[in-house]
Amino acid sequence: MAELLHKLSASAAFLLTVLSLTSSFATVEPKPFSRYISPLSMGLNKPEKLSHLHFYFHDIVAGKNATAVRVAKAPTTSDSSPFGAVVAIDDPLTVSPDIGSKLVGRAQGIYALTSQTEASLLMAYNFAFMEGKYNGSTLTVMGRNPVFSAVREMPLVGGSGVFRFARGYVEARTHTFDLKTGNAVVEYNVYVLHY
Ligand SMILES: *[C@@H]1O[C@H](CO)[C@@H](O)[C@H](O)[C@H]1NC(C)=O
Ligand SMILES: *[C@@H]1O[C@H](CO)[C@@H](O)[C@H](O)[C@H]1NC(C)=O
Repeated sequence: MAELLHKLSASAAFLLTVLSLTSSFATVEPKPFSRYISPLSMGLNKPEKLSHLHFYFHDIVAGKNATAVRVAKAPTTSDSSPFGAVVAIDDPLTVSPDIGSKLVGRAQGIYALTSQTEASLLMAYNFAFMEGKYNGSTLTVMGRNPVFSAVREMPLVGGSGVFRFARGYVEARTHTFDLKTGNAVVEYNVYVLHY
């Protein structure tokens, strides 16, 4: 009996502690979950700017310095039928097709082979810029890339830093593709509206 009482008082004490903790949390005034704010307060009263960025994307799949590595494949995937494969990329972006030219950023993310009948990719990656006023800002690409088409258009779904509230699209054109290694240099034209 005494033992039971002791247990009960111990649990009562525990409950009291919990309750007092809860009530001290409750005294913190919660911030509203949602509210309207003025676009002016975010600097959105300025007209949107349209920027055009131009650079080359280096997708190096072969060798010690690969910047694109396959991280997954379907059990049914083979080299002749790579449907389902997923590749992680950290591809340098340079001002000219020469990989030794000025680096302006990197394309970081993944692509997956998502067509059973052609070489078409789902691209989901960020451009992480390093150049000038764009240093530290990102743009996010999410789109379909049928790699053997002359021009592939993919949506820009947003951005950060100078590209907050960004929208736009990219055009990708293969500059060189090495059939033996699979390495590619791709020219990018980016058209982006931002503040
Ligand atoms: C890898 O990169 C290093 C440093 O840039 C370079 O010296 C080397 O030649 C490259 N190796 C290959 C196989 O491209
Ligand atoms: C970009 O920003 C980083 C971090 O602030 C800095 O270390 C780097 O030197 C900058 N690069 C350029 C090219 O301005």
